Amino acid sequence: MADAPEVQGDALLEAARRVRDRAYAPYSGFRVGAALEAESGQVHVGANVENASYGATVCAERSAVAGMIAAGDRRIRRIAVYAEGPTLAMPCGMCRQVLAEFGLDAEVVVGGPAGRRVTTLRALLPEPFVFEAKP
Ligand code: THU
Repeated sequence: MADAPEVQGDALLEAARRVRDRAYAPYSGFRVGAALEAESGQVHVGANVENASYGATVCAERSAVAGMIAAGDRRIRRIAVYAEGPTLAMPCGMCRQVLAEFGLDAEVVVGGPAGRRVTTLRALLPEPFVFEAKP
């Protein structure tokens, strides 16, 4: 039982590695895959989607969040991000803020040929901006 989260993290990282193949990244050539486990147990995946107008690019993590919302889930239990580069691809600042909206206590697993790291969103974003949604 104690090993369960670790196994789950590896399974998510494998899903992130697979979806990375579908990334649309013709400008940077840097493909990223993300797989998140919602509190329902469902897994939602995403890949980065670049654009000729560079600023319109959507990161893999936010792509996975969009899929989660479209599928009806709202809470993130764990997210894995996979990329291949000389260093681990830690979620960017904008993605940290977006992920915080749906699970500040989520575990974050980042992996690739550069290694593997397990942390939490709270550690990556210690002081998130919060705003009370209107009822
Ligand atoms: N990228 C992600 O998908 N996630 C991150 O957290 C950081 C960056 C993507 C965006 C862009 O397509 C490429 O990596 C290079 O910045």
